[in-house]
Amino acid sequence: MHYELNLSFALLFFCLFGASYVSASDDVSTLIKEVSKASNESLLWGPYKSNLYFGVHPRIPKSLVAGLMWTRVDSFSTVQENFRHTCEQSEGMAGYGWDEYDIRNGGRQTIHDTGNTLDITIDFIKVPGGAHGGGWGVRVKGVPREDAHVEQPTMMVFYAGLEGLGTVQVQNELDPLGHEGDVRLAGETPELGSFAIDVTAGPPSNQHPLHNHPSYAEKPLDRTFVTSLEIPAENIWQTKAIFLSQLKPEVDAYVAKYGTDNLPPPPQIFTIANNPGEGSIHFVQKMFQGEFEFDILFSSGSSPQPVTSESVTEGIKSATKSFSDRFEKVFAPLAPFNTPEYVKFSKSMLSNLVGGIGYFYGGGLVDRTGAPEYEEQDEGFWEDTAEARARATPFPEEERELFTCIPSRPFFPRGFLWDEGFHLIPVIDWDIDLTLDIVKSWLNLMDDDGWIAREQILGLEARSKVPPDFTVQYPHYANPPTLFLILEVFVNKLNSQATPGGDWHQQDLGENIRSVHLQNRELAIAYLRSIYPLLKRHYFWFKDTQWGDVKTYDRKAFSTKEAYRWRGRDVQHILTSGLDDYPRPQPPHPGELHVDLISWMGMATRSMRGIAETLGEKEDAEEFEAYETAIARNIDDLHWDDKAQTYCDATVDDYEESVHSCHSGYISISPFLTGMVGPESPRLKPILNLISNRDELWSDYGIRSLSKGDELYGTGENYWRSPIWININYLVLKNLYDIATAPGPHRDQARKMYSDLRKNLVNNVFNEWKKTGFAWEQYNPETGGGQRTQHFTGWTSLVVKIMVMPDLTVGKGSHHDEL
Ligand SMILES: *[C@@H]1O[C@H](CO)[C@@H](O)[C@H](O)[C@H]1NC(C)=O
Repeated sequence: MHYELNLSFALLFFCLFGASYVSASDDVSTLIKEVSKASNESLLWGPYKSNLYFGVHPRIPKSLVAGLMWTRVDSFSTVQENFRHTCEQSEGMAGYGWDEYDIRNGGRQTIHDTGNTLDITIDFIKVPGGAHGGGWGVRVKGVPREDAHVEQPTMMVFYAGLEGLGTVQVQNELDPLGHEGDVRLAGETPELGSFAIDVTAGPPSNQHPLHNHPSYAEKPLDRTFVTSLEIPAENIWQTKAIFLSQLKPEVDAYVAKYGTDNLPPPPQIFTIANNPGEGSIHFVQKMFQGEFEFDILFSSGSSPQPVTSESVTEGIKSATKSFSDRFEKVFAPLAPFNTPEYVKFSKSMLSNLVGGIGYFYGGGLVDRTGAPEYEEQDEGFWEDTAEARARATPFPEEERELFTCIPSRPFFPRGFLWDEGFHLIPVIDWDIDLTLDIVKSWLNLMDDDGWIAREQILGLEARSKVPPDFTVQYPHYANPPTLFLILEVFVNKLNSQATPGGDWHQQDLGENIRSVHLQNRELAIAYLRSIYPLLKRHYFWFKDTQWGDVKTYDRKAFSTKEAYRWRGRDVQHILTSGLDDYPRPQPPHPGELHVDLISWMGMATRSMRGIAETLGEKEDAEEFEAYETAIARNIDDLHWDDKAQTYCDATVDDYEESVHSCHSGYISISPFLTGMVGPESPRLKPILNLISNRDELWSDYGIRSLSKGDELYGTGENYWRSPIWININYLVLKNLYDIATAPGPHRDQARKMYSDLRKNLVNNVFNEWKKTGFAWEQYNPETGGGQRTQHFTGWTSLVVKIMVMPDLTVGKGSHHDEL
């Protein structure tokens, strides 16, 4: 069986790469290399500058950047006010994002720009072929919105810059009036080889502003203008400011020539100088009137054929079709969401999650002073640590790369550790190999101690979006270890496969490249083996740094070791827990034990055990199993409160006695959320009752973060003190499902709650999306309204997964439900 599988692999790669024959078992490493190479080529290009409305970058540090900027030009003020580049919440968009997007092929983004009374459609298509990851094409279409003037003038700017070694230059002959027809940039970098970028004139239907002012003759607006500049590589990302600075001398020259009472009209006055040549950045400017369309075509010198407008047209068709086909197969919503409206919604949510994936490169700021205060062992430690932090000088770390989903393009365009485990839950169903690539990218950020910074602010561009107080990372701060969550999903998929490798007779790497690691067990094992030392290092870093004190306070527990405390808390926050302002023991105490952290560790341990078992690491598996048992026992021994009938943090009172600090909500049910409360547990019933109680956690829109009955409900910053969060609701739902589909005394209650919650969640996120054009960071428990960060297509996109979770209301209780 195994032999055949490998043989088909070898043949496949022989055909695809013309590689030398790989014998059945001697050379998994060749296979790994070939798959990695093919995968890298497939993932090389993308709109990986997802902080921009549209920005392309390869997965190569300091390389080519390309993007779009635009504005309406019907008055002298709109250019300053409406010039679009980075995604911003304040720009009054009526929705934007990817309606369909697949990282292997491309997709379509639409932007509803009310401020510019313009709707823009951007198709991005990958064209494989050649040694350098192939080429890509972009089709840009603009249509004035209903309330626009039909002759509305729009300025579109395409730019291409180089942040590292190489050259790019304009190929067209200099025409002092501006370029007619297509503009071609040609360049070369060490990693990309040679390439050309054509910016087409577009179809003859394109109209351009026309006017009688004498300035027109010197620079007719049906031409394309190109300015090439030599800008230091580290400033290229400030593209908008650089471009705007180029407008000023032109405006000044018009004013000098014609005087303020005879100025050219706005589309004329805001043209850039036609000054093409060599440079580290090139701006290609077009002025349109009414509807318009043009293409940007990137051809690699190593590709057999250049990318043309015709290939883009074809590519759009086939990308749309393959996206729809695959969506139908993987994410077609189940009842009652199996209607065209929900399909559209789900496609958009999935596409924005995957279309938001970014490639980052740079050095994050880290405080490695290791001040003794950071041990947090004294009472009043939060004041001492604040002083130590203020004294410290953080330094940028060595530059690193990160390939990651992001929570929100306008507001959180960077990597967040605990978000990522949730992001990858829908992604792994869509593209397993992509998921494994992303997990590895994160694990590669780990330092020698096993620490991964919870927020990845790599480089100046990323840092520009972060308030100064939050830019520094601390190597004693943790974050919920959700990467173990996704690895558990992967290992379960791997081990539950009936016929591994069944699909491999198709010689179509294009589709198979999403799941090579599932289809070939040797590859999967090799992958797990390659990350296993990192995972262990990370796991034991948690144990070593986030331990909680059982002995000093004479706590009665099964194990004296398995207890945990988040480091980095202050009076009102434990930012490291992810649930920033959720109520915690007051005042903070070094003897605290945090129930959410021990629960996360229970999940991480279970995940590690599964990986160790899969790898045949018997001793390790036994060790993890022992930890798992101890954690499960300690969760009950240290954190269950009989009076409150829920799990609680533990702290130490004025008499040095260990006591509970109870606040019902996400933290108090964290053992349930992480799968640590089984169907037979005597704690299950009170937890289900708490979740389903309308006076506590239940609302018509999802599960509240804090009980309505808590004295701190809705108070202070009210970030995690009432609002509904989709990531935690997904965990509630998943665990309800597990209870509802296993034998146990609370099966029926769980089934009813599961069905109701699933509907409430999807309906509300959908309704708000329809109403506002956006997914939101959190939802109001009283009204369901989306709130805080807009365009939050990170873990809110879990609705995609929720819509394909089975509808248990069908045939209620009358048959066995199996996934
Ligand atoms: C693929 O890319 C990753 C990440 O950039 C790199 O570590 C790896 O060596 C590449 N693989 C091959 C075969 O080039």
